Amino acid sequence: MSSTATPRRVEHQQTDKGYVPVYTTAVVEQDWDQYSEDDHRTWATLFQRQLQVLQGRACREHLEALDGLQMSAGRIPRFSDINALLQAATGWTIIGVEGLLPELDFFDHLANRRFPVTWWIRRPDQIDYIAEPDLFHDLFGHVPLLFNPVFADYMQAYGRGGVKAHGLGEAALQNLTRLYWYTVEFGLIRSAEGLRIYGAGIVSSKGESIHCLESDAPNRIGFDLKRIMRTRYRIDTFQKTYFVIDDFQQLFDATRPDFTQIYAELAPMPAIPAGETIDGDRILHRGTGEGWLDEGGD
Ligand code: PHE
Ligand code: FE
Repeated sequence: MSSTATPRRVEHQQTDKGYVPVYTTAVVEQDWDQYSEDDHRTWATLFQRQLQVLQGRACREHLEALDGLQMSAGRIPRFSDINALLQAATGWTIIGVEGLLPELDFFDHLANRRFPVTWWIRRPDQIDYIAEPDLFHDLFGHVPLLFNPVFADYMQAYGRGGVKAHGLGEAALQNLTRLYWYTVEFGLIRSAEGLRIYGAGIVSSKGESIHCLESDAPNRIGFDLKRIMRTRYRIDTFQKTYFVIDDFQQLFDATRPDFTQIYAELAPMPAIPAGETIDGDRILHRGTGEGWLDEGGD
């Protein structure tokens, strides 16, 4: 793959839902040699900054896996180096992609223990915020937990569940996507020392790493599968609600049953706005809502 023949990012198209990415299915070689010094510097800046922010904030499993996978600030990791260690640990491999995949392709990769990683890294002026997943989000945010045997199995089960939900229709898919959002992307976990982060969307963001644990604004609520599947979410601001698991085993056990029945049960029920609490919530912290814009969600 030469860098001239390869677009740096997925194109966006204006639709009635705003700009949406034009999905590409291509699996690509990482072509490590084409990264510029700027690219490596962006990785180094983000890596060093997050490593510091995540001390005492990210779960132990995440921090240990950065070591286990020998990720460091020096250079953007080579996917082949990561794969040698990851495959030996849990049987997962990472594959290079241009960006977001169509849902079914994504599920199929996960079901086969392949995690798609965006090969390109954000530009220097996007250090603090980028709307779409890039290499830093995917590799630093998601890949470390695939090194953990219980989480590795959860992600594969999720992929298989996704293939099934895809055949069941839009509503089922939406329920499952919300589960992904509030666990894999924005999940919190208990530890003996207090709440910790495991969601990749948080782990790859300095601002949200601090906000999710230290701000009084958001709700923090105990994990509840069906409740989460009804909860709308924001993709453009910090989350209004975070859900807290006791441990990865809880996540794995709660999601083991066949969801077909659950989707049917949830179908007639109204969605819950992102910032709302409901009867039955195990509220660890009730958000003050400070700084929230208008109600909204997915
Ligand atoms: N048990 C779910 C189903 O039958 C699959 C799943 C597993 C979904 C783990 C999410 C996470 O659909
Ligand atoms: Fe992600």
